[in-house]
Formats: sequence, C-alpha cells, structure tokens
Amino acid sequence: MDLTSSMTLQQYHEKALKEGWAIGHFNVSNLEQIRAIVEAAATLKCPVLIGTSEGERKYIGPRQAAVVVKSLRQETGLPVFINADHSKSVESAKAAVDAGYDSIHIDLSALPYEENLKGTKEVVEYAKSKVYSDIGEIHVEGELGLLLGESKIQKEVIEVNPEQFTKPEEAHEFVEKTGIDRLAPAVGNIHGIPANVKTIDIELIKTIRKHMASKTGLTLHGASGISDDQIIGAIKAGVNNIHINTEIRVAYVNALKKSLEENPEETTPYKLYSSVIAAVRHKVEEKLRLFGSINRV
Ligand code: G3H
Ligand code: ZN
Repeated sequence: MDLTSSMTLQQYHEKALKEGWAIGHFNVSNLEQIRAIVEAAATLKCPVLIGTSEGERKYIGPRQAAVVVKSLRQETGLPVFINADHSKSVESAKAAVDAGYDSIHIDLSALPYEENLKGTKEVVEYAKSKVYSDIGEIHVEGELGLLLGESKIQKEVIEVNPEQFTKPEEAHEFVEKTGIDRLAPAVGNIHGIPANVKTIDIELIKTIRKHMASKTGLTLHGASGISDDQIIGAIKAGVNNIHINTEIRVAYVNALKKSLEENPEETTPYKLYSSVIAAVRHKVEEKLRLFGSINRV
C-alpha cells in the first residue's frame, strides 16, 4: 500500500478547517495501539495524529515512539504524525522535540497566564528552529483554561466551572503572542468518562473560533464520552482536531480480558493480541467516521 502524501500537518489542519472535518488524535503507550490506529487510518484513508502523554512516552520511550511512527509513515505513505501530548514543562516539551516528535502540545495551563504565555512562546521558538524534509515545521499546540479529569472511567461526578473556561479575547492574545499553530481551549470538556454527562459549550467554541486566524487550529481534548451530536456540533463550530484516549483504552483492556479468558492455554502474545488490535482499530474507525476525516488523504 502506498498512499504517499507530501502534505504537512499544518496543511492538513488548514484543509480540515476549510472543509469542516477534524483530524483524529489517539493516545498510545505500546506498539499494538499504534498498529491499530495506523491500520484504521490506512483502511479509511485518513490523516491521523498519534499522541503520547508524558506518562505514556516514559513507558514506550520517546525516541522509540517517534521512530516507530516515522517508519510507519515512510512504509505506508500515510500522513501519520506523532504528538507529545500534554507536555507539562518547557523541558519536557524540548526533550520531545529532541526525540524527533512531529508535533508538540505544551500544556502550561495550570500556571498563571503570563507564565503560560512565556513558557509556551519559548517552546514555539525552540520547535520552530527545526525544519524537517518530510514534515516541514514542527506543529505546536498551547493550552489555555482549566481542564479537569484523567483518561479513565471515573466513579465520581466532575463539575466544571464556566469561570475557568477559556476567554476568547485572552485566547486571541495568547495565540498571537506565542505563535502556536493550534489552541486547546477549556469549553466544558473533561478528560476521561465521569459519572455525569459531559457537555461542551458549542457557542463558546464558535466565539473562540471567531477570535482565531483562519490558519489556527482548534483542538478538543477529553472527547471520550461526548455525544456524537456534540462532537458534530463542535466540528461545525470550528474544532479541527479531536483527542480520544479513554474510549480506546477501554476497548483495549476489555478485548484483552476476553482474549485471555477465551484462550487460557495460549502463550503466544501476538495470537492473544490480534483481537485486541482489532477492537482498538474498530473504535478508532468509528471515531474517524464521526470526525468526517475519511478519504481525506
Ligand atoms: O489528550 C488526551 C485526550 O484529551 C483524551 O481525553 O480520555 O477523554 O478521551 P479522553
Ligand atoms: Zn488531553
């Protein structure tokens, strides 16, 4: 298979914004998950972002994750890119640049505004000093506003406070002053699946979009458990990049439990994992269809 594409991540972001769809971003910490995502992207002909948080990349190895994704991009010709998701410090983000990541998410949203701005700008300058022949410039995302939760099924109710949502004017200034390529706002989204229904503020997304330049991407984090209608509403309002972690973690673990139960004598890992890869691939395909990103390569 060769779906060779010479478009950069920035060009895919602009294409998604113009055409009204979103690039899927899926978190991983091992090779089985990467394979599942790349298989889904190849079947449906989608550009895709594979993400590793600090914990996930500590486990898989940042250089190893970057090399694996790059080798799959070369082998398949598919636009599959790797993002250093939720890098919580300037040092961590710079280390991901040095490890060969295509995209960096610098998340200093827990810091006061001025410190977030200063650190994010420093990461943009560092990342943009590297230009690669295959992907062009490294793509950088910044984050503004408070996002609660973590990527798991949570027993408790998580209440969001609209006071801590992203303020559109501040978002405009933040993007202009830092030079980021895409912004992750807080619009009612929560990481993981809490006991309450997740509801995002579509009108706020529309207003933030109006305060962004047409080339600036808008990322929706914490998309697991958000209804399909709200996801479609968010894309129509101007989101062009959507993060899923919990739902594919759940698909993975449930399939693995089933595989172990059904094959108690099996000791060959790749045989036990074939149904796990298929389960993750199906979940990823379901999301790629929902995001409207099929046949965009
Ligand atoms: O950065 C990762 C995502 O925001 C994952 O959120 O666990 O709700 O899918 P999720
Ligand atoms: Zn996130």
